[in-house]
Amino acid sequence: MTEMKSVTDAPTTKAPVLPDAQIVTEVKHWTDSLFSFKVSRPASLRFRSGEFVMIGLLGDNGKPLLRAYSIASPSWDEELEFYSIKVQDGPLTSKLQHIKAGDQIILRPKPVGTLVHDALLPGKRLWFFATGTGFAPFASLLREPQTYEDYDEVVITHTCREVGELEYGRQLIESIKHDEMLAELMGEGFADKIRYYPTTTREESPKMGRITDLLSDGSVFKDLGIDPINPDTDRGMVCGSLAFNKDIKEILEGFGLEEGANSDPKQFVIEKAFVG
Ligand code: A2P
Repeated sequence: MTEMKSVTDAPTTKAPVLPDAQIVTEVKHWTDSLFSFKVSRPASLRFRSGEFVMIGLLGDNGKPLLRAYSIASPSWDEELEFYSIKVQDGPLTSKLQHIKAGDQIILRPKPVGTLVHDALLPGKRLWFFATGTGFAPFASLLREPQTYEDYDEVVITHTCREVGELEYGRQLIESIKHDEMLAELMGEGFADKIRYYPTTTREESPKMGRITDLLSDGSVFKDLGIDPINPDTDRGMVCGSLAFNKDIKEILEGFGLEEGANSDPKQFVIEKAFVG
């Protein structure tokens, strides 16, 4: 509340210029190429944890420049959080990376997406597979009570090139373990269901390698001391680059899982992470 007040009172705050304008309340820079930010939530916006919306800024031509962004905050949160890459010549992120508390962004309040619980059949173990900013929808789902109501175990894998790129996810998972609201809803110890498996590919870290290779050679199961993926018990959600999504899809199908959708729930679902 204190943060909201200081932002609302800030002299730099301008009157909304667009019907879909929202106020930026917080910005955090994680690395040279990654940042997260929070914005006010339209009172009318309802969404399912894991969905995305179109957000953006006014372009130089005065027209809205919008891209699909997964909402990184859970559906019950008062604010909306996003996690973004910074691309120096990217049409949107070259500008978006400079936003500050009190600024406005455009947010179209029409949430959609396939990384939702409704698109999966019931199971016992849920896998979240992310690369880079593909972690965002899982930042939402990891704070969604239904995730822990529906599953006995939640495995989150995050593969990045460098160690610093894992930090947003690492801190998020650490904060979940101390989240009083979730603990009240879910009961103490709910976070023991989370198995976090971070890997890097281009900088030394305790676990190196692409998650695709670590699944194929069985390292993941060995490292976590768990059974291999089985279509009777395991469900998956995937969010990364096109190439990553394609490779993981093949691997999950190799384990006997089938791809589902909102209209046809099955064993795993896929969405492309925003990259530009
Ligand atoms: P790698 O460094 O071996 O390319 P990017 O920044 O290119 O989107 O990649 C983010 C992370 O995802 C990197 O660690 C990268 O590994 C990994 N990655 C990229 N493509 C694939 C793929 N097809 N399968 C598995 N991991 C991938």
